[in-house]
Amino acid sequence: MNDTPLLPPPSTLSLAVSCVEGNPILRENGLKLAKKLGLPMVASAEKEQNDLLLIYTETGLHLQLKGKTRGTLHIDFSSGTMAYRRLHGGGIKQPLARAVGIKPGKRPSIIDVTAGLGNDAFLLATLGCKVCMVERSPLLAALLQDGLERAASNLGLKEIVTNITLIQGDARIILGNLEEIPETIYMDPMYPHRRKSALNKQEMRIIRCIVGADEDAGELLQAALLRAGKRVVVKRPKGAPQINDQIPTHVISMKNSRYDVYMV
Ligand SMILES: C[S@@+](CC[C@H](N)C(=O)[O-])C[C@H]1O[C@@H](n2cnc3c(N)ncnc32)[C@H](O)[C@@H]1O
Repeated sequence: MNDTPLLPPPSTLSLAVSCVEGNPILRENGLKLAKKLGLPMVASAEKEQNDLLLIYTETGLHLQLKGKTRGTLHIDFSSGTMAYRRLHGGGIKQPLARAVGIKPGKRPSIIDVTAGLGNDAFLLATLGCKVCMVERSPLLAALLQDGLERAASNLGLKEIVTNITLIQGDARIILGNLEEIPETIYMDPMYPHRRKSALNKQEMRIIRCIVGADEDAGELLQAALLRAGKRVVVKRPKGAPQINDQIPTHVISMKNSRYDVYMV
């Protein structure tokens, strides 16, 4: 992979909200979201004119990206990777659970300061932790909100989503204003360098086009270390340097990535 940007920087992408035709509820949802995000609401016929489109369909909210990295993001906590990890992920012995401090009879409170598509947060909630997700991209936060709302009306998931809350904003600021200190702060920033292993999932490539490279992860780690009750956990690709060159208390290694754990 070379270093040519896949698309213009996120701020130059044209963006709109739409919905499939003929369903007044979807239209209503679209209008509300367009107002909230300050975006135009376009008819389906015009949707091809935008680089990025948030579109309501019968299966929920989808984010469509055009261009070289074309593809769709959609959050469905009941299927795909999320369902697989929930059902077959290895319970409290899996690396993420050990990294955040889950033990028999112990479920730490967690803030996931880089929520993304909510995969990690949802898994931690299925294991019984109270998780607050923070996501600064309003587009990803809208997808997360939609995924949570649909999960709340799914009999098998509604218990789990009562463990999850969502805040849209920059965690560097939100952490400074917390009323309750979480035991664990978890972060999984985008990896700034273009390593194939870090970007080989299409979903991650699309997210990168939308949010950029999280170059300020060092500041986020500093803020997290000041606010965590017990530990900060940072997910890194295998072989990547530690954030801020800061040596962790211990490391949990996996095949392609690792968790750097900082006890505070
Ligand atoms: C690699 S993704 C996280 C994927 C996530 N762990 C999952 O399981 O789906 C990184 C996300 O962190 C978000 N992010 C990075 N820095 C942030 C900050 N300071 N505050 C809030 N969100 C941030 C980015 O917008 C991006 O969506």
